Amino acid sequence: MRWIRAAGRGLLVLMVILTGYAASGAAPQGRAPDAGGRGPMTLATAGDLTGYLGRVLEGWNRSHPDERVTLVELPDSADETRSQMITDLRSGAGRFDVLNIDVAWTSEFAAAGWIAPVDRGRFPLESFLPPVVDTATYDGRLYAVPYVTNAGMLFYRKDVLDRAGERPPRTWAELERQARTLAPASGLAGYAGQFLPYEGLTVNAAEAVYSAGGTILGDEGERVTVDSAGAREGIAFLARGVRDGWIPREALTYTEEESRRAFQEGRLLFLRNWPYAWAGASGSGSRVAGRFGAVPLPGPDGPGTSVLGGSNLAVSSHARHPESARDLIAYLTSERVQRRVLTEGALPPVRAALYGDASLVRRFPYLPALRASVLAAAPRPKSPHYEQVSLAVQAVVHDAMAQRQTPEAAVRRLADELAAIARRR
Ligand code: GLC
Repeated sequence: MRWIRAAGRGLLVLMVILTGYAASGAAPQGRAPDAGGRGPMTLATAGDLTGYLGRVLEGWNRSHPDERVTLVELPDSADETRSQMITDLRSGAGRFDVLNIDVAWTSEFAAAGWIAPVDRGRFPLESFLPPVVDTATYDGRLYAVPYVTNAGMLFYRKDVLDRAGERPPRTWAELERQARTLAPASGLAGYAGQFLPYEGLTVNAAEAVYSAGGTILGDEGERVTVDSAGAREGIAFLARGVRDGWIPREALTYTEEESRRAFQEGRLLFLRNWPYAWAGASGSGSRVAGRFGAVPLPGPDGPGTSVLGGSNLAVSSHARHPESARDLIAYLTSERVQRRVLTEGALPPVRAALYGDASLVRRFPYLPALRASVLAAAPRPKSPHYEQVSLAVQAVVHDAMAQRQTPEAAVRRLADELAAIARRR
């Protein structure tokens, strides 16, 4: 996958050079820039892990020579990207015109006035999967346009399970048993997700809590609901895995990419990750190509609940050319580009029709399971103080997984910390 990224970055440089050349003299075609809202712009995004976005933007740049977009690729990690975006937005420097923001940040960015409300009528929201539109809404208004959705899935080594005559787990008890017995017998570690303290751990922890019937916050963040049997059961599941060794200790340092590599290098029986990991694990550099599958996340007694991931495209309140920015967003969410989001970016599109497209389902056999997971996925806690909420969840759950605190004590501490955050409003 690294080479795909490297090639993508090379392409980006080429694109900037080519578009720079067009600007420096060759007869520009199309509309001239107008101060009222049209002209060049930047698109800031977290790391493009599959290196496809440069190519997609090249298509726009070819047909919009006066409204060229320059891709600004920020770090892979959601937290670092968020802080770089916020530094820019707070300072009013306006380096970023269009922002590809994580679905978890819409409330915070909208409440702070950093992104401009979007006219609902301008985008075909009715063709999107229903839950994604809610992630772009704050206080009843649309502040961004859904671009990519996401749901966690359980990747499993089909060859290992087949040899043992077993099916992929549907419950935590099955997962735990297989991870404890089949994994060591095949020289593998049992289970990993994203357990480094960062946004990925908040996602994994929320999935464990939700799957066990718990919640974290109620309403728009005013009520703390985490002190429950469900939350204790969810966090105990993760902590027990490390204690009993079927979650390798090394996984406490994993983000998406390290965990993907562990799986595709043939070191793991089970992996919780986003569907983009399918592309790498099927690629030529993978040791497990053709030998794995993906199913919805398991829960205590049956299917679990994924957190709804993905990103939305927003226009910065400081955008130099908001009209062009909105047209670019319409382009990126068009059916044609959404198909490429899946086929070239290995990311889950927001357009519902693509999930039923027979040729796509043949190429991406996990699409039906993914669609079901997205439709049943639960949002992260909504709060204008989302960052502090997420930091508290990460720190407490990491302590419980590292065996520094019992799950019961961890849940009590989290409830206290979340209450203190809620009082800050
Ligand atoms: C993925 C998801 C995003 C989530 C992040 C956590 O990028 O799409 O919503 O916040 O992972 O690491």
